[in-house]
Amino acid sequence: MASLRLIPLLLSALLVAAQNEAPSASVAISATITAAASSTSSALPPPPTESTYYVIPISPVAFTPLPSPSNPGPIPGVFPSAVPNNPPPVSSDPTLVPDFAPAWTVAWEKAKAKIAGFTLEEKVNVTTGVGWMNGRCVGNIPPVYPIDGRGWPGLCLEDSPLGVRYTNFVTAFPAGINTAATWNRALIRLRGIYMGQEFVGKGVHVQLGPMMNLGKNAQGGRNWEGFGAEPFLAGEAAYETILGMQQSGVQACAKHYINNEQEFDRTQESSNVDDRTEHEIYGHPFMRSVMAGVASVMCSYNLINDTYACENDRTLNQILKYEYGFQGYIQSDWSATHSTMGATAGLDMTMPGDIAFGSNTSYFGYNLTQFVLNGTIQESRLDDMATRIVAAWYLLGQDAPTFPNVSFNAFYPLDPTQNENIDVMADHYTVVHDIGAASTILLKNVNNTLPLKGVRSIAMIGSDAGPDLRGPNGYTDRGGDDGVLAMGWGSGTDNFPWLISPLEAIQARARQDHTLVSWFLDDFDYAGVATAVQGQEMAIVFVNSDSGEGYITVDGNEGDRKNLTAWHGGDELILTVAANNNNTVVVVHSVGPLIIEPWVDHPNITAILWAGVPGQEVGNSLVSILYGVWNPTGRLPYTIAKNASDYPSQLILGGTPQDILSINYTQGLFIDYRWFDAQNITPRYEFGYGLSYSTFKYSNVEVTKVYNADDAYDAELIANWEAGKPNPLTVGSTTALWLHTPAYQVSFDVTNTGDYYGGEIPQLYVHFPPESGEPPQVLKGFTNMNLVPGETQRGTITLSRYSLSIWDIASQGWLKPSGTITFTVGASSRDPRLHGTFPL
Ligand code: NOJ
Repeated sequence: MASLRLIPLLLSALLVAAQNEAPSASVAISATITAAASSTSSALPPPPTESTYYVIPISPVAFTPLPSPSNPGPIPGVFPSAVPNNPPPVSSDPTLVPDFAPAWTVAWEKAKAKIAGFTLEEKVNVTTGVGWMNGRCVGNIPPVYPIDGRGWPGLCLEDSPLGVRYTNFVTAFPAGINTAATWNRALIRLRGIYMGQEFVGKGVHVQLGPMMNLGKNAQGGRNWEGFGAEPFLAGEAAYETILGMQQSGVQACAKHYINNEQEFDRTQESSNVDDRTEHEIYGHPFMRSVMAGVASVMCSYNLINDTYACENDRTLNQILKYEYGFQGYIQSDWSATHSTMGATAGLDMTMPGDIAFGSNTSYFGYNLTQFVLNGTIQESRLDDMATRIVAAWYLLGQDAPTFPNVSFNAFYPLDPTQNENIDVMADHYTVVHDIGAASTILLKNVNNTLPLKGVRSIAMIGSDAGPDLRGPNGYTDRGGDDGVLAMGWGSGTDNFPWLISPLEAIQARARQDHTLVSWFLDDFDYAGVATAVQGQEMAIVFVNSDSGEGYITVDGNEGDRKNLTAWHGGDELILTVAANNNNTVVVVHSVGPLIIEPWVDHPNITAILWAGVPGQEVGNSLVSILYGVWNPTGRLPYTIAKNASDYPSQLILGGTPQDILSINYTQGLFIDYRWFDAQNITPRYEFGYGLSYSTFKYSNVEVTKVYNADDAYDAELIANWEAGKPNPLTVGSTTALWLHTPAYQVSFDVTNTGDYYGGEIPQLYVHFPPESGEPPQVLKGFTNMNLVPGETQRGTITLSRYSLSIWDIASQGWLKPSGTITFTVGASSRDPRLHGTFPL
């Protein structure tokens, strides 16, 4: 716990004070405080001598569009020039690295021409939201008039990562966590495409997602919005989601950049993270987002190494814009802007625009205009900000006259003059159903209890089996837990158009086999539960666990979960059912891991299905799994531990409102399974685990080096890498071609040795030499294979040089560690089937 605000915070406070006294053009500029962007300085800045203004160093890299590819031009077949509406095809063995740089260049040229016609105030307006609830969307950039002439129509920015928030006739897609649990790039892409269509259909320019903070803390309130606890998996999910969304014409927004891993004190905590961990773990999904051509990035509420995320030169300018070569714009999270000078640290847009909701003041707007007029901020920086924003709009083709107008008002959904009730759902429920099934993880299946075969009677137990008494949208922003849980709470939600509960879905299916269906939905009437399940051929008991964003507290959970046990006395409910029925199936709808030790090994519990928060078709998805229409392919996107204390990271609580809470990322690279492996802790179910109704055999592994025609362009860089030498840090050096093109290919056979058609997800883990400081193994590839019984297919997983690199702090580059690098291919992080060594 830091009891004192450190220097950058002092600086922020001073800047706030300065800005609150309306700046005027006559104010002189004071001395530069060089410590501003540093997280480690301990000396106080010199006292002000002459004015109210402090100027933080202006980064020399912040003012030009930064090209991302390392090569002079696209290389056919390997590095194709891509435009968002024609991305590379989905490949579960990614050999294509799309290059969005030419498309950005075209968009930048158009944007520069457009901005050239804007006045200073108009350029500032492009960067400044209109203020909370002053427009139809949760965030709004005002138009420049005349819209059809030299002007520009402005932007509508709307939540959420799983559907269009605060309106109707939209689909409630599966949450990010379920999307990741599919380990299926094609489904992830399709969800992105359909979401993008719905946002565009409603007239939204910017979808505020995907969310890619990692599940470092099992209790983290917003984990379910994101893609789990593994950077590679989260990176692939972010990449495919963004390609899909932007293919449909909506701007994606990668959020929350960065280190926003708990809700408690999120605006008042400093996540203290070392540079290597930042690059290898938390930065990776954002880096993949840049590679997908993401239009915007949202900086987060928290501080990073004692500097607020939205004025953090290190993370915004140096890493995101310089090293990753990000050419879009950075917008603040809502009220996460802390100064006008954040603009020089890389912030391009302030959202929703006002300093505090409804305050009628802004760090940008009038203040930014004055800062430019008095020379505190160079106009070229303002031009860069506005150009980035308008370029993203061109990149997505949102200048097309056919781009729909906003047809709803997020804040007044019942106003008939502002809500056209346009139905954008099409048949998107089909992908919700499929992802719901594909993300359901079969944890236990004794004697092939599932799939169901002619069961004559089923008792459905627990409130989570049925509908919510208040209806699907009875709680504001889904901030309540009654009935089946299909999404968490907070801004990461949308309205359910309907919500098919397990009870409804199973009854519809039961007709086919004349299965008797009964139910008992009271979670606490244990005597009633016991009676209800006795004599039934099978009991299916439902429990859940909810969490969300910290502005809503549900049952004492202030966003983050206060514990890792099932809600509504779920453990007791399960034990009651199991004590009275020897064919008990447990279904869990949960935002994240739970401790399931009280019942997991109970001999009467014959199957466990881990269904996450799968969206509006939750019941239908479950029925597809129960009856074997979808042979389970879901795999855990996090570890389920035996004890909460086994996890390497816990929420940091405490402090006073005056304090900045220090959250030291002491576990470094060792989050989730990396920690369990390194510490030899046996989990209950490991990362990557999930059963199938079939069985699969792995054989014949081979690894080959891949030669690309384009290697010639970067021969020197490649030779350096192969020699284990660092390469220079340059613009886009982390997203450079040579680092990401295929370098090694691992191939192997998989045979379906069981009785069911089904999918297997081979996972490749790289084992770096111990001296490298890496965890024992790290996921670097996966693929999907669908096989009929008896069939053998050859699978391939491609690795790049990046996959075999570690971040070298000294040279600020990606380095091949010295020593032998080996790999395993297997069915989970603890089920290796094949071994090999890279021919380095
Ligand atoms: C704050 C949340 O952190 C962010 O994810 C969301 O997009 C904005 N509010 C707008 O609702």
